Amino acid sequence: MTSIGVAILGRLPAIPVAGLGVGLGMGLLLAGSGALAASEPLKPFTVVEGYTVPDPLTETPGNPEHGRKWVINRKLGNCLSCHEMPIPEEQFHGQTGPALYGVADVYDEGELRLRLVDPKALNPYSMMPSFYKVDGLHRVRRGFEGKPILTAQQVEDVIAYLMTLRDTSKRQ
Ligand code: HEC
Repeated sequence: MTSIGVAILGRLPAIPVAGLGVGLGMGLLLAGSGALAASEPLKPFTVVEGYTVPDPLTETPGNPEHGRKWVINRKLGNCLSCHEMPIPEEQFHGQTGPALYGVADVYDEGELRLRLVDPKALNPYSMMPSFYKVDGLHRVRRGFEGKPILTAQQVEDVIAYLMTLRDTSKRQ
């Protein structure tokens, strides 16, 4: 009997730590980051010369493995709905935006940061959502009013992941 109790207790905290990118583990992680996004004021960012945001939004460097999860997650980045990426375990990759294979050969971190926080600064007609903005947005999903889609740390994680996409030979 005791061993069953221990096994169950032991398993619960292991779910988010093990980082299962989908399902229950992600639900728990999301609950945490959602609360963070609500309470954390947006960090100001500075667009330099109209094409880059050179300063990271957080002191903690981005984690590429976390970034890969936010990119896939349909409630966070949902980047695959519009972009092809080297994520073979996901079936559907959209083509509204350019494929992101080798994107780190094209842009540096600051340029990627601007594309995430405010793509409309580059192209006012961009279909790409602003992932770290709350003003001037249209058609904001219910529950997201006044909250950025990604937290500052998640933006940095996604940039760190995109910086791993260096293999242009995979471009199709
Ligand atoms: C609703 C569709 C949509 C979603 C969702 C979306 N994007 Fe985009 N993205 C675009 C489009 C369209 C472009 C082309 C440039 C433009 O129109 O702004 C683009 C451009 C980009 C670029 C520049 C690529 C290049 O080769 O110039 C990057 C990097 C990028 N997106 C990353 C992401 C990431 C990372 C996510 C998820 C966090 C994401 N996008 C989510 C539509 C989308």
